[in-house]
Amino acid sequence: MRAHARQKLFQRPDKWVVMQSIEIYVGSETTRVLIGPGARSALPDILDTRVRCDRFAIVADATVASLHLPSILAALARRTPAAVLQVPPGEASKTLASAERLYGGLADAKIGRDGLVLALGGGMIGDLAGFVAATWLRGIPFVFCPTTTEAAIDAAIGGKTAINHPAGKNLIGAFHAAAAVVIDSDFLRTLPARDFSAGLAESVKHALIADGAFLDWHEQEAARLLAREADAVTALILRNCGIKADVVARDARERDWRAVLNFGHTVGHALEHVLGFELRHGECVALGIIAENEIARARGWLDAAVCERVRSLLAALGLPTRLPRPVSPGEAWAAARVDKKVRGGAVRCVLLRGLAKPELSVPIERTEMDAAVACLAD
Ligand SMILES: NC(=O)c1ccc[n+]([C@@H]2O[C@H](COP(=O)([O-])OP(=O)(O)OC[C@H]3O[C@@H](n4cnc5c(N)ncnc54)[C@H](O)[C@@H]3O)[C@@H](O)[C@H]2O)c1
Repeated sequence: MRAHARQKLFQRPDKWVVMQSIEIYVGSETTRVLIGPGARSALPDILDTRVRCDRFAIVADATVASLHLPSILAALARRTPAAVLQVPPGEASKTLASAERLYGGLADAKIGRDGLVLALGGGMIGDLAGFVAATWLRGIPFVFCPTTTEAAIDAAIGGKTAINHPAGKNLIGAFHAAAAVVIDSDFLRTLPARDFSAGLAESVKHALIADGAFLDWHEQEAARLLAREADAVTALILRNCGIKADVVARDARERDWRAVLNFGHTVGHALEHVLGFELRHGECVALGIIAENEIARARGWLDAAVCERVRSLLAALGLPTRLPRPVSPGEAWAAARVDKKVRGGAVRCVLLRGLAKPELSVPIERTEMDAAVACLAD
């Protein structure tokens, strides 16, 4: 698969909206990503000129719809959706049953091959609506307006769509890149503080695997990020989309390099299960980053000073650096052993050999995981 990414600055003619733009090319698919406060105002142009759809349906979760649907409908102006389809908020909606209800809505709204799905919400909606678009009539385009930090800096880029199955998360899915991603940073203003911070763990992950200078930037901008100052949030999203686009362009189908995005996730996912999902995904990733850095430090791969620096940064970004309750030795290991990242019976991690020096698929021992999880209790 031919794949490459490029990045350029883009300014809309409207004097009051300055947006950043990234074009991502993966094989024959191109995704235009628009980023900035007020970016939703670009939606009519995108529907008219970029995807040229006749009819479209909006898919949103009910919470996001109550907060942001009116402003989306106002931004769409002359373009009226054929249907607005809502699902309850939360991961429990990412199912085949929800997809089936959405297929019914698309059928009722007569969304044909020249139609489009406009997804409005967090990563859950992106995955669900993207999956429905990927499979309706063997695939129609979709445009994604992410409304969470997690979705804006991670889920919206890369073309992975999925629903869950009782046997596991994201087990049913398709690669189907959005035709356009419109990231209006104003949407993030209504996110609860805890959810805003949770998404920042993925940003620290991107910095650690790909760009040491971006780690410095987080330290300098932490307070402005938490205050959600528009220029800081736009810069955050832009750099994250660029890093994710670079990784995806190199390995769209997760054959090898894309697994670098699993940094922090081997221990993070295990803790998510052990703690019964009482923490946000991003909060578990923050703990996973600290634990996996500790494994690298114990091997002599990473300086203790870097580990301490990352821990302080995560705390400054409002993320947990300690377990909310004790996790006994072996508990996290048992959860990691059933994770889909296990290969050849070995639990594997992405470990750092320095800033922006990730090593992929490193087998780790139970004793290493136990010691790393113990450091989260200190
Ligand atoms: N496809 C990918 O590459 C990818 C990458 C990372 C995560 N994901 C998926 O993303 C999902 C998690 O995404 P998420 O963290 O965005 O969760 P989410 O979409 O469930 O949103 C979290 C909560 O925030 C609310 N919300 C969303 N936007 C809001 C806003 N602007 N103001 C107030 N409340 C708002 C939602 O209603 C929901 O209750 C998981 O299903 C995960 O598997 C996918």
